[in-house]
Amino acid sequence: MTVANSAETTGFLYDQVSRHILDLVEKGTLKPGDRVPSLRSLSRQLRVSISTVSQAYADLQQRGVLRVRPQSGYFVDGRLGRAGQSQVPRKTSVSRQPRKVRFGELYEQIFSVANDPEVVPLGAAVQGIDLMPVKGLARATQRAIARQPEQALAYSFPPGDAELRYEIARRYVELGLAIDPDTIVITSGCSEALTLSLQSVTRRGDIVAVESPTYFSVLRLIERMGLLAVEIDTDPETGMCLEALENAIDTMDIKAVVAVLNFSNPIGSLMPDDSKRRLVEMLEAADIPLIEDDIYGDLHFSGQRPAVAQCYQQKGLVLTCSSFSKTIASGYRVGWVIGNHHRDDLLEWKQATSSATCSLSQMAMADYLRSGEYDRHLMRLRSAYRLQVEKMRFMLERHLPCGTRITSPQGGFVLWVELPRGTDVIELLQRALAEKISLTPGMMFSATRKYRNFMRINCGHPWDERIERAVERLGVLAHELASEAA
Ligand SMILES: Cc1ncc(COP(=O)(O)O)c(C=O)c1O
Repeated sequence: MTVANSAETTGFLYDQVSRHILDLVEKGTLKPGDRVPSLRSLSRQLRVSISTVSQAYADLQQRGVLRVRPQSGYFVDGRLGRAGQSQVPRKTSVSRQPRKVRFGELYEQIFSVANDPEVVPLGAAVQGIDLMPVKGLARATQRAIARQPEQALAYSFPPGDAELRYEIARRYVELGLAIDPDTIVITSGCSEALTLSLQSVTRRGDIVAVESPTYFSVLRLIERMGLLAVEIDTDPETGMCLEALENAIDTMDIKAVVAVLNFSNPIGSLMPDDSKRRLVEMLEAADIPLIEDDIYGDLHFSGQRPAVAQCYQQKGLVLTCSSFSKTIASGYRVGWVIGNHHRDDLLEWKQATSSATCSLSQMAMADYLRSGEYDRHLMRLRSAYRLQVEKMRFMLERHLPCGTRITSPQGGFVLWVELPRGTDVIELLQRALAEKISLTPGMMFSATRKYRNFMRINCGHPWDERIERAVERLGVLAHELASEAA
């Protein structure tokens, strides 16, 4: 290959040199651990300057494709997978400016196919029916209606079913927390818990700090409520960067922080418990409420259930939101929020906006929790999700273009995938949807329309041939796009 002639017309020279090396890695000509040509020999071979090759190697090093060994030269990173990709995405770096959030048709497009059985479900973060405790829940539902038909068919006014609140409070004992069931407000899913929390602690025009990337429904909520979002740098392993948050607090009037500390969506990060303590101390010192979304907390792959920020609060400013949507059944719409000092505000918002929550779902859920089946179910679920996430990661590494980076979460069931720079994931989505494959484009997870070459992949369904074929096709489509961009 000679790149010099085509350089002016097709972009930066060093970019083409990078692509040349990536191509060799992808085709297996250069394997992990192999030495790549020296700067001098490649510059001669490609007829470009040594500094161009040097710039390309620096770029590949930053992308995790090459490593430098002092006095020996550059090598293909030995940690790369078969196709050369097993790096996790880098810590995010965002401009810290409060912004209005705007959402368009993308949201509708993703949700319009979420329940279409014809579409391979790699988009929305939902689990397969095989992983839901169908029989146990059916028994619990029957018992609930048979035992108290009148109650099951009547309104359940806020704060919600007393037995359910007691069962939920009991689950926090494992984390060393004594939660008064009266401080819990039952909601319609975690979504309503987040809505009521934001309504209780903010007013129109306020600034809310969020992770970057962050769960898109939080952004949507911020948009609809006329709030401003400020995105905070986030590490794919340890979550929201506390120094960046501290800096934001020092420089702007932040009224609330919303974060998924345990296995965030989409990045899968897990904030270490010590950092959670520091986070709570920092926010309490500034009198800023923390809305923690712990919907994935029970889905840890290792033995220990991670703590919630609620464990460290002293001033009642932490609101913990969650639901059984990711663990039992999203259709039952049973969620909750631990309100602390904001409990009365939450109650008023709940009364004013939805008045009551489905009685039968609450009673069935309370019965299911009481039966002791939940922990056994969770054990099976965690190991299934772990396997599915590992399998999906392995297959994506195999099929996606070289230079792709994929998170390696310790819980939950989504993967965050960074495709090579320049890949247009919105176009990938359109082509994938035409083949009845869904995915969630990265742009949806930011108010700043960042993450154009990122996507979130759902691993909530047991692996089967249909998913395998879809991942293969996604690989082909991504390769096509990469070569069109070249
Ligand atoms: C982080 C996070 N919070 C909240 C929700 C919504 O939960 P629910 O279905 O219980 O309203 C989701 C669903 O994907 C989620 O990923």
